[in-house]
Amino acid sequence: MPTTPKYTVPGLDIAAAAEAAAMLQDRLVSLVDLSLTLKHIHWNVVGPMFVGVHEMLDPQHAGVSAMVDAVAERIATLGGEPNGLPGNLVATRRWNDYSQGRAQVPVHLRELDRVYEGVIGDHRQVAAKLAEIDPVSEDLLIGHTGDLELYQWFVRAHLESTDGSLERGSADGSSGPAPAERRTAAATS
Ligand SMILES: [Fe+2]
Repeated sequence: MPTTPKYTVPGLDIAAAAEAAAMLQDRLVSLVDLSLTLKHIHWNVVGPMFVGVHEMLDPQHAGVSAMVDAVAERIATLGGEPNGLPGNLVATRRWNDYSQGRAQVPVHLRELDRVYEGVIGDHRQVAAKLAEIDPVSEDLLIGHTGDLELYQWFVRAHLESTDGSLERGSADGSSGPAPAERRTAAATS
């Protein structure tokens, strides 16, 4: 359990700081998971378009790693205790591990699109809740959300068909709705 802040930033009370830190901790876990997943895909993607996708993922990993640091340091700034340890990540995340190992480019990109869908949707939800108690933390997540949406567009641009629609089959390459992998809705909702 995170410790209760002993002090926090000016203009924010301790209870609000603890609440904001808990919301940010949820996003920290998500971003650490995403950063590890991006490298996993970087290493395991194969097939036509390999180099482009392999190299596209390193800047995304670097960007997400910077987000991890910023969110963790915001938690600390609020007087909270950021926890990015692997055991805590596995114990508290609300989704299953990334489903693919060594696999073709379209399989990974469809699955990564789904990953971004979850991360970005939760970021927006948490940012909206933070608006009520700590606009500075909200602003941090809004900035990150814009970058994450940009990264998702990079992925989606590979999945756009000639009629302009998005190919969003399941990760195994079959069509139809994606299987529900997220264990629950956002914990903070
Ligand atoms: Fe590499």
